Amino acid sequence: THVLVLNGPNLGRLGVREPEVYGSASLDDLAVSVGTWAADLGLDVEARQTDDEAVLVGWLHGAVDARAHVVLNPAAFTHYSYSLRDAAAQVTAAGLQLVEVHLTNPYARESFRHVSVIGPVATGTVAGFGVQSYRLALEAIAGGLRP
Ligand code: DQA
Repeated sequence: THVLVLNGPNLGRLGVREPEVYGSASLDDLAVSVGTWAADLGLDVEARQTDDEAVLVGWLHGAVDARAHVVLNPAAFTHYSYSLRDAAAQVTAAGLQLVEVHLTNPYARESFRHVSVIGPVATGTVAGFGVQSYRLALEAIAGGLRP
């Protein structure tokens, strides 16, 4: 099972960026953990990060074409990007899993983070467990969990 783990804007700054909010693990640390968890679960995983909305949209198109499931941390795009939402909708409409993940619990934060335009087109969402949110998302995909 092929899985793309896609990270949006500012997540390349993990470890440096507001560590009291996002923790001390870097994106490289996260990628190593994701690789280990995926191997244990028998998943073939590839982790990527971009600050660019168009690049992220393109990666979702690629996931559809490659028949890859997706773990997506849309970061701030979560809250307003309709182009990303439309791209995410194509993944789930194609019968692939798309799990929205967040390190933090957006509902415990500023009110602008309480809206996700991605959530309604995702298979499901895991938020608030730090880097472990990604492990839970991979487990959901490996287990074939669906609503
Ligand atoms: C985030 C939460 C978003 O609100 C924020 O813009 C991020 C990271 C998270 O993983 O907790 O950049 O997606």
